[in-house]
Amino acid sequence: MAERDRKVEHIRICTTQDVQFKDKHTGFEDIDLVYDALPEMKLSEVDSRTTFLGHEFAAPLMVSGMTGGTAIAKQINKDIAAACEELGLGMGLGSQRRMVEAPALTETYYVRDVAPTIFLAGNLGATQARQYALDVIEKMLEDVGANALAIHLNPGQEAVQPEGMPDFKGCLKTIDLLARRLQVPVYVKEVGHGLAREAVQRLAHTKIKAVDVAGAGGTSWIGVDSLRGKKEVGQTFWDFGVPTAAALLEARQAWKGPLIASGGIRSGLDVVKALAMGASLGELAQPVIKAQSEGGREGVKKLLSRLVEEIRIGMFLVGAKDVKSLKQKKFIVYSGRLREWLDQRKTKYS
Ligand SMILES: Cc1cc2nc3c(=O)[nH]c(=O)nc-3n(C[C@H](O)[C@H](O)[C@H](O)COP(=O)(O)O)c2cc1C
Repeated sequence: MAERDRKVEHIRICTTQDVQFKDKHTGFEDIDLVYDALPEMKLSEVDSRTTFLGHEFAAPLMVSGMTGGTAIAKQINKDIAAACEELGLGMGLGSQRRMVEAPALTETYYVRDVAPTIFLAGNLGATQARQYALDVIEKMLEDVGANALAIHLNPGQEAVQPEGMPDFKGCLKTIDLLARRLQVPVYVKEVGHGLAREAVQRLAHTKIKAVDVAGAGGTSWIGVDSLRGKKEVGQTFWDFGVPTAAALLEARQAWKGPLIASGGIRSGLDVVKALAMGASLGELAQPVIKAQSEGGREGVKKLLSRLVEEIRIGMFLVGAKDVKSLKQKKFIVYSGRLREWLDQRKTKYS
């Protein structure tokens, strides 16, 4: 199937079918934040601003890379970007593979007309990045005005995709090369099945600037792509992956730089938990494209505004006046399945 048609299918499936993990959760449900009933401040005084890769955000929140390369993606990207501009949040574009192969499709990714100031991440799969010359990738990023490149790792998705290319040989070398040579910072993300400590340890030897764990518990990309092809194999692996909260702590041990928490982030409280655990930003994908399909730009704005409000309330309720003090506080209680995972994997959590 052509890449364009695949993108249309992805959008359709993600906005009309249940493609969330079934019996595996992010692990945030096994985390309690300790309530501070005497916060000595007003809710309105909470300062949610933060900086990520040198860029200011009004709140520690970003929309994950999703789309581009097909006609309907143009409006989706513009609506998401305009809402992010209004709220001072960041955004990722979907894989720019289509744009490299057909430059006329650049306009389906271009959002700088409606979002001149947001942090904007370009996107490529590691397996595609491996095939492109450096100047092609540089131009691809320049043409959309990207502030960074997110390289995605998706062996699970490729393995179940009818037209997938499950070959990741040489990808680490490509990532390092791009991180050294590109003008903009490079970071690495999964697509919702998570990065475990061992993968992050290998990435830590490269010159990437951030890690986005994109863990399990939200949208299952093995699930999405199996609905388009290898249905039974996809069922077997639907819930495969490292739960987001576990991935975050595993990554924290191997990586001292900025971390993005994503994969099943569904509330501002999830974001507050992730930040208290050491993340710099929380990020979400599928609920945003669903909100866009139902309510356009206003729908996206409503969803993201709710999350920002929840982040502020969450910070207030643990007595964290700003993002820095949130990261310094030790007010987390771990329980249940998450704790079992962390114990068996000898992952520090206190
Ligand atoms: C419609 C859609 C398209 C996506 N396309 C891409 C992509 O092109 N590149 C990428 O790195 N991730 C892509 N993703 C994965 C997301 O960036 C994210 O990692 C994943 O969906 C988990 O987050 P969630 O649980 O909040 O949806 C896509 C997600 C959705 C919902």
